This record gives sequence, structure tokens and C-alpha cells, in this order.
Amino acid sequence: MIEDFDVASDWHVASPYAFLARLRHERPVFASEHLGAYVLTRHADVRAAYGDPRRFSSKGSLTISRSLTRETRDKLGEHGSFLSSFVANVDPPDHTRLRRSVSRAFTPRAVSAMEETFRRLNEDLLDRIGPQGRADFVTEIGHEPSIKLTARFIGVPEEDEAFVQAHVKDWFQLFLSPQPPERQLELADSFLTYLAYVDRLVAARAERPRDDFTSLMTSLIGTELTHREVVELISTILLGGNDTVPNQLGNTVLRLLREKAWPVEPALLQNAAEECMRIDGASLGSFRYATTDVMLHGVTIPAGSLVLLSTDSAAHDETVFPEPERFVIDRPNADAHMVFGYGIHFCVGAALGRLQLRTALEVLGRRLPGLRLAPGQEIAYRRSIVGRGLPSLLVEW
Ligand code: HEM
Repeated sequence: MIEDFDVASDWHVASPYAFLARLRHERPVFASEHLGAYVLTRHADVRAAYGDPRRFSSKGSLTISRSLTRETRDKLGEHGSFLSSFVANVDPPDHTRLRRSVSRAFTPRAVSAMEETFRRLNEDLLDRIGPQGRADFVTEIGHEPSIKLTARFIGVPEEDEAFVQAHVKDWFQLFLSPQPPERQLELADSFLTYLAYVDRLVAARAERPRDDFTSLMTSLIGTELTHREVVELISTILLGGNDTVPNQLGNTVLRLLREKAWPVEPALLQNAAEECMRIDGASLGSFRYATTDVMLHGVTIPAGSLVLLSTDSAAHDETVFPEPERFVIDRPNADAHMVFGYGIHFCVGAALGRLQLRTALEVLGRRLPGLRLAPGQEIAYRRSIVGRGLPSLLVEW
């Protein structure tokens, strides 16, 4: 029997569900020694905690840079606490102000205007790759259109896309997953180079605005936003767009192929995407800090404790989703998952993420109706505390 979470194990991402079900039934407030956090696993509790930012604070919840060495911190200087003013990492009133600014770029009209561009990026990719008859879905198909779309949205020139992509990956590693000391220094160098790049981009747009996210945010410096907040927003949105959507798409395609549900008929696409997000979410949950002692199900979570809101468990809660381990393409309440979070920090890119998933599935299903898993491969997920994504998925058509 599994006693605690284990981020270094394969099951943590691939198949935690029997363990999570036990926690929901027997230990709905679980003190995980391994995570150094209390874990909430029931749908109702996770939702209530997301909805109560006074008692469950986001301040500092994203920064896992606690594992940085002194040398790395010295190198980073004032940037050692990078992300400290990122919108997902702060509470009201700062959050209210930042969120208002970011939301200006994600109006329904702005999001739906991206559909055509994204469709074209997918069609172009398939024009190139179609004749191959086989590919690694993750590295050759899943990422490129989302990365290009995000880069255009932000205003990164096409010739800089590869540079940005490489550096974003580095800083993600530096701040969000523990690294050995030598590697930390390398990653810190890469991160500083990237920050200097974003600084230059902001300066360029301040001088000559264009029709992009960077220009819009830069125009708010001095009134609504600080320079640093703009740099953090741009960097993190690049990350959000570059990684989470492709991860979710990879998980989704794997599920649909395994369930023999490929291609999905257009009328079912939207619900199929929701059911795939529910059953194989790209996000496993969010961290919060308890601001006061919180008493729940007979357990006291002491003030100052780190708390994991396990949306992965909530999405498999049998009191909300009957037979949660079964894939039901037309499940009526599939979208009651919380893979985009809930409450004031609800993912600002959710509509854009959903649009990309639907569009990619529609184009892929039409262009590659015979898509299948390549035989003989071992399917494993990347190790992560709060993300679910495949490093590779070999497919044929
Ligand atoms: C399937 C893809 C995605 C997933 C699973 C996802 C997941 C999440 C989750 C769980 C949160 C809440 C974090 C918290 O409460 O602590 C969040 C917030 C956020 N996401 Fe996403 N996201 C996705 C796509 C995107 C995209 C495409 C963008 C931007 C282009 C984006 C930008 C953001 C931002 C800026 C926040 C912070 C919102 C706030 O704190 O008010 N995300 N996302």
C-alpha cells in the first residue's frame, strides 16, 4: 500500500488514482511528509479552498526557488525572487489590479480572433509532416502551433522564437524543479539572458507600439503596472502558452487513441476535450498557504502551512463524476473539473486553451483520420509535482 505521495515515482503522475481515492475516503485532509504540505482531495473541499483566498493565500505559492543555493541567489541578485509579483502568486488587492490589466488582452473577441491563426498554423504543420506517415506527436506536432501562436500574441519576432523557447524552458527548470548546484548556475545564466531579452522587447514596444500583448501591457506602465510586473507577465504567459496546452493536447490524443475514439466527430469535440481534461489533466493542482489555523474534517491545518489543492483528485471524485476512471465522451458534467483552477485565480487563458484544444483536435482528426499509436513503445510521463505531460508519444497514420 502506498503511504504518501512520491514525486520521484512513475505512479505520481501516471496512476495516482487508487491512492487519491483512499485519501478522499479516509484522510480528506492529508499531511504529506513527502510534499511538506497538507493535501485536500475532495471536490467540494478543493473548490471551497480556491474560493476562499483570505484563508488560502496565493502569496509566494508558486515560487519553489527555496531550493536555490547561496551562489545561485547571489548570481540572480534582485531576480532571486522572480515571480514574486506574478498574477498567480499574489493576493488582493495586488491581484485585483494585475488581473484587470491582463484580462484586457483576453477579451472573448481577442481570443476568437486567434482561432484562424491557430488553425492555419496546424494546417501548415500537417502540410509539412503529413507525408512522413509517422512522428513523435509531442516533439513534432503538439508543441509547434501553440508556441508560435503564443509568440505572435506576445509579439516575439519569428526569428527569435527558438531563442525564447530554449530560455523559457531553462527558467522553468530553475524555479519550479529542484536542480543540482552546478546546473542551477548554468540555468541562472540562461535566465538572466532571457530577462535582458524581455527588457529589450518591452523597451522596443514602449517606443513603437504594435498590436500585441507586450505593447498593451507596456502602455500600462506607470499607471496600472510596474516595469517588473510587465516583464514577469510576459515571461510567464510565454510559459503558460508554450507548455500547458501542448501537454494537455498530448494527454488528450493519447486518451482518444487508447479509447478507440479517434477521430472525434465535430459535434462531440468540445465535450470530448473537457472529458480528456477531467480524466488526464495537464495540471494536478495548486499550492496555497493557510493564513490562519483551518479546521477541516477534524484536522487542524496550522497557520503558515503549505496546502495542495489536488484538482487531479477532485476530477476523479466519484461523488461528482460517477465511475470516474471510465472515459465517457459525452459525460454531461465533464467540465466540472477544475484543471484551470477556480475562483479569483481561474486561468485567464482558459478560453484560449480550450480553443486551441478544440481546433487542434478538429484539424488533426480531419487531416489524420487514421492516426494510431506506434506499436511497442513504453509510455511514460515527465516527473513533476503539479504537471502532467508526456515527453514523447510515437504515432503513425
Ligand atoms: C490547458 C492549458 C492550461 C492549463 C491546464 C492551465 C492551468 C491553470 C491553473 C490551474 C491556474 C490557476 C493557478 C492557481 O490558482 O494557483 C492558471 C492560472 C493562469 N493561467 Fe493557465 N492554464 C492553461 C493555459 C493557459 C494559457 C494558454 C495562458 C496564457 C496564454 C495561461 C495563463 C494563465 C495565467 C496568467 C494565470 C494566472 C491567473 C490569476 O492568477 O489570476 N494559462 N492556469
